[in-house]
Amino acid sequence: MTVLPARLLPDTASVDPSGALSIGGCAVADLAAEFGTPLFVYDERHLRARCREAVAAFGRERVVYATKAFLCRAMARLAYDEGLLLDVASGGELHVALAADVPASALLLHGNNKSPRELGEALEAGVRRIVVDSFDELDRLEALVSGRGDRPAPPVLLRITPGVHAHTHAFIATGQDDSKFGFNLANGDALRAVDRARRSRAVELVGLHCHIGSNVFEASSFARAAEVMADFAVPLDLPELVLGGGLGVAYVEGEEAPTITEWGNVLLDACSALGVRSTVSVEPGRAIVAAAAITVYTVGTVKEIPGVRTYVAVDGGMSDNPRPVLYGSGYESFLPRAAAADRPLTARVVGKHCESGDVLSFEAQLPADVAVGDLLAMPVTGAYGQSMGSNYNKITRPPVVFVGDGQARLVIRRETYDDLLSRDV
Ligand code: LLP
Repeated sequence: MTVLPARLLPDTASVDPSGALSIGGCAVADLAAEFGTPLFVYDERHLRARCREAVAAFGRERVVYATKAFLCRAMARLAYDEGLLLDVASGGELHVALAADVPASALLLHGNNKSPRELGEALEAGVRRIVVDSFDELDRLEALVSGRGDRPAPPVLLRITPGVHAHTHAFIATGQDDSKFGFNLANGDALRAVDRARRSRAVELVGLHCHIGSNVFEASSFARAAEVMADFAVPLDLPELVLGGGLGVAYVEGEEAPTITEWGNVLLDACSALGVRSTVSVEPGRAIVAAAAITVYTVGTVKEIPGVRTYVAVDGGMSDNPRPVLYGSGYESFLPRAAAADRPLTARVVGKHCESGDVLSFEAQLPADVAVGDLLAMPVTGAYGQSMGSNYNKITRPPVVFVGDGQARLVIRRETYDDLLSRDV
């Protein structure tokens, strides 16, 4: 069978008798006509359902949405309104979250190389936690805090590298010893950092953090990280333990990932069995937003090279989804006019950028009658596509709409040619 598995579509997706796809009660063809293509369509009910599932699994203020996966004011606000805290990993992410009226008391600042300016902005805003990544950062914080009079020391977590290998792409594995992130547990840096932070008057050490990698499918990798962290954390008796994000999602037919609820069960059971008394929090990004969105493109050329392959070129590409090029990630393709149709044609879906590497799907299955002018969509594009997009070739970045109850709400408009010139001096 080459029919698109319905479970890869957003929660409110429905297919009418003619085969046409709607999301949130909005026909995808109408959305494309109104907003143009390429277009990111997010199912608002799906986003909220994943936030609620996470809060039900871990508790209120125990789930931190990793904004790097997808951030704009509407998303920051939605996550906060659903009871999540937000992880920001740069001054820019901090700025957007604050601009969405998310209070600083709901924000955690991350980053392996935070600048003095970013640290200063976070201190000034009064973020809830700074997750300290290095001894150099402790130096920077001490220098900054000493100039702040007798305001209270900022509460911090220390990011620990637990030496756990997550089964994922090397570029997105972060918990192994050979990593730019965090204080190494095995070589004693982690303990030295705890000692130093406890003695420092510039910070208030409230807990530990780890993140082993992203798009991790094995619940056992998370349990292993919890075990290593618990060994280290329990004797220190600190109030907070953050066990990172990293829960994988199914992108293509045949992939299976644990649900957020299952992830919660594995992590919380492991922690209680290990005697962890700290409050345990997590930081999911992808698991909240990935499957909530599809990207809709228009087919511009279909080129068949007999005996070689068929290329189907769409009006976006690596500028709206660099993941296939960066990590070799797979995506399904389908036609929104025939969302439940058989897809017997194998083709390579490519973008419109000036390089051969500009591939969106290496081995796509499509209906045999795919033609120029068709809308072509890819599901599970809600994480790390829009956020890692670019305007390479001065292609204008696509808009984002949130759909629900038959209404479409534009939350990011399409970039314009004038935007492309707006920073030239
Ligand atoms: N917490 C920290 C400290 C992180 O570094 C990350 C992701 C997360 C949470 C959220 O991870 P998630 O739940 O989304 O897996 N661009 C890559 C993913 C890089 C993830 C970096 N850190 C991709 O497209 O697969």
